[in-house]
Amino acid sequence: MNAIPHHHKLVARPVKFDFSNSPVQWIPNDPVCSHLINGINLILPAGEFWFCRVYNKALPYVKDPILMDDVKGFIRQEATHARAHQGAQEFLKQHDYDLEPAFKKINWIFGILLGESPLGIKQLEIKPLEHFWLITRVGVVAAIEHFTGVLGQWCMDNKSWDKADPVIADMFRWHLAEEVEHRCVAFDLFKEILPNPILFYLYRQFLMALVFPIFIYVLADVGRHLGKQDPDPAVQKIAHKSLFGILSTYNKQAKATDNGPTLTFITKATIRWISPKFHPETEGNTQQALDYLARSPAVQALK
Ligand SMILES: [Fe+2]
Ligand SMILES: [Fe+2]
Repeated sequence: MNAIPHHHKLVARPVKFDFSNSPVQWIPNDPVCSHLINGINLILPAGEFWFCRVYNKALPYVKDPILMDDVKGFIRQEATHARAHQGAQEFLKQHDYDLEPAFKKINWIFGILLGESPLGIKQLEIKPLEHFWLITRVGVVAAIEHFTGVLGQWCMDNKSWDKADPVIADMFRWHLAEEVEHRCVAFDLFKEILPNPILFYLYRQFLMALVFPIFIYVLADVGRHLGKQDPDPAVQKIAHKSLFGILSTYNKQAKATDNGPTLTFITKATIRWISPKFHPETEGNTQQALDYLARSPAVQALK
């Protein structure tokens, strides 16, 4: 599937986006997919800066020099992604969206639940527990990166965003192309830090069983939060549905329009993770991602 040799040097592309002519409903006639995907702008900066903090702690445990280079490239790419989505947060604020209630939940997840002392449990200052907690968080990053990688490939294959706002579409496409580009790093780092194959397999499954429902819940919850603030009462009505109702509306919309990945697509990707032979290498096409990065308007503007 992949024409590029396995090792590929990861570089950050410090792109800039000007959202001054972009609408909040950036996918035409689709407030449901627009808000749900806009919600990602609220989650990512906190999540990706957390990835960077965890990986900086994990660096001393990386023995393989190629993996070390990949992890450093990964950190630089994720920090750049986080900054781009902070710009998108400002854009939403300029359109009078109140993001603070969603930030409270997101910051609790990445700052308290997954922080240095989870839920304030000081016992983790004991060395073996501290290391176990680092392994756990590296594993959580690997599970999340499975989704960013497969969603990245979905985005590379997608055509419906061609009719969407070009700046916002390019921001997500640039980001997701880099997710495809670095899709193996988190998995390989998790394996490096937990080398026992049986423990690695079991813990990988355990962490995905936690990450998958939380990932879907947070996406739907944040999307709902934005939808409730839409000026159109019909959209507000959808956003006041239960989370199950919102997900089902989203899924129908995604299926009919291909404006977002369906829940079936995401569930199938999660099931593939169960295989003992699973590796993200086969989950995406690096060349296709690099081809997008070569023609991305924001990347071209760097030249
Ligand atoms: Fe990212
Ligand atoms: Fe990533």
